[in-house]
Amino acid sequence: MPKTIHVSVAWPYANGDLHVGHLAGAYLPADIFARYHRLKGNRVLMVSGSDSHGTPISVEADKRGVTARSIFEHYHERFLLTQQKIGISYDLFTHTDTENHHQVSQDIFTILLERGYLYKETQKLLYSEIEKRFLPDRYVEGECYICHYADARGDQCDNCGNLLDATQLINPRSKNHPEERLTIRETEHYFLDLSKFSDQLLEYLDKHEPHWRANVVSFSRNFIAEGLRGRPITRDIDWGVKVPLEGWDNKRLYVWFEAVIGYFSASIEWAKNTGQPDAWKDWWYNPEAEIYNFIGKDNIPFHTVIWPAELLGIDGIYNAGSATPLSLPYDVPANEFMNIEGKQFSKSRNWAIWLPDILDRYQADAVRYYIAAMFPETKDSDYAWDGFFSRVNAELLAAWGNLVNRMLSFAYKRFAGQVPTYDELTFEDKQIIAKVEAGFDEVGGLIEAVKLKEALSTAMGLVRDANGYLDTRKPWMTIKEDAADAARSVYTILNVINNLNTLLAPFLPFSAQTVREYLGFDGQIFGDLNIVEYAEATRNHKGLVYDGTNAIGTWAKQTLAPGQALREPKALYVKLEPEIIEQERGYLGAPREESEIVV
Ligand code: MF3
Ligand code: ZN
Repeated sequence: MPKTIHVSVAWPYANGDLHVGHLAGAYLPADIFARYHRLKGNRVLMVSGSDSHGTPISVEADKRGVTARSIFEHYHERFLLTQQKIGISYDLFTHTDTENHHQVSQDIFTILLERGYLYKETQKLLYSEIEKRFLPDRYVEGECYICHYADARGDQCDNCGNLLDATQLINPRSKNHPEERLTIRETEHYFLDLSKFSDQLLEYLDKHEPHWRANVVSFSRNFIAEGLRGRPITRDIDWGVKVPLEGWDNKRLYVWFEAVIGYFSASIEWAKNTGQPDAWKDWWYNPEAEIYNFIGKDNIPFHTVIWPAELLGIDGIYNAGSATPLSLPYDVPANEFMNIEGKQFSKSRNWAIWLPDILDRYQADAVRYYIAAMFPETKDSDYAWDGFFSRVNAELLAAWGNLVNRMLSFAYKRFAGQVPTYDELTFEDKQIIAKVEAGFDEVGGLIEAVKLKEALSTAMGLVRDANGYLDTRKPWMTIKEDAADAARSVYTILNVINNLNTLLAPFLPFSAQTVREYLGFDGQIFGDLNIVEYAEATRNHKGLVYDGTNAIGTWAKQTLAPGQALREPKALYVKLEPEIIEQERGYLGAPREESEIVV
């Protein structure tokens, strides 16, 4: 029975380019996972989009003297290109400024309000006399009242990860006018009453705890232990989804309240766009469906507490008439952070590795390989350029690329461009074939458990075994006196390469396609990833769309047919020069020119 898998990927704020932290934290794990499940023949829906609202966008707009809309549109466009280049295979990558998303978010607000899950309360908030407005959390900085980190943001502390109440910060200051003494004023807002969901949320956690990552469980438990208080879900800002109530024109829905709804609204949008308007229901109310949220650790409570509460609160509406409740996340495999050369990512200091930049210089699969090998699954990891250099050269290129290249060239030249015909395989031949074939269950099991780093190293271990096999069988020697024996081992290694290629395909989709063609197969392992303009768009609206119609790859061992015609191979990977290490380090912390925003 095929499984039904939803891959919900964190929505990047469209206020700057994507960097390796995004890739390591959420997008690459999600893509590997989705590609694997597609190969398995499972039904996958992978969605995300640009998070177009929220103060991160407004802050950038103010800084650059343009509108929030032009910031979001500019970076949305760049996100599409970057992710197409590195192959993040979203069934739909949209954004939160679509009519559909506004509508669904407002509907959900209204349902929660009518059902008594929201309440109105006067809040005391930091007010700036200079700017004549309530300061959004992101415009406020100060000392964290939990861990005493000096530069906590108004909404969250980057040091201890806790969500914060800006008014409780020690010595709060305005980002724009750090000298100003901020005052506290009253304003009215709607709150999501999390306490109404305590029992259900605890039950939900208990049920999923056994298969969740330890950090995700502990973050969520701590969040609940601090008390399930009401959380304000409206804001005094003018950029975002309108509050669907009269007299609330000056306020907007809080970005986190509506961004998580994107997983749901984008599924509906995908269904509409593909001409099967009810198809989203197969994921959202189907007891067999599994929803995975790929996110970074700073987003955990929004996905394990707040989003489930929203879903619990609207249950029975979208799934009216069905006995099945709306699906809550089945797993939230949050990653830790990937640091850069030993230091934490910082946009302001440009301590970052920007994807559009490195994708101009390196192959997508080389970047994917190094990041996957360094996934911060259980603890923070570090992207180091000497590590990139040596792992790409020694592992991806020397162990895998050279194996493929050497043996395919050898077969192509010495066996008349065909998979050799053999009489009978030796014990060693059968042994390596069986070992690699067993990799489908082993690597597959690890991917299903979202142990992707271990899955990759297991597959690479099999690549090493294949190289070890060749070192003993040495067809380039035996061919001189025993052609039949060389045929056996060359047949064996081509068979092994073909299966290894499938094992590596979710990680290295671009080179996997090339290897498949060298081996003489036609057709695509995966589908196409296209940037499309939507028909139904009422605004300028483009998305990234995976089209799996032509995909024929499967996650299963395959036996190569002797006599199959090969294609002449070329080197799979570009060898890196040692100079790149210092060159790349030189970009870190140095000024970087921002892409120009054409308004
Ligand atoms: N935009 C947020 C960030 O970059 C992530 C939003 S994830 C979603 O941290 F859940 F809201 F979609
Ligand atoms: Zn803190």
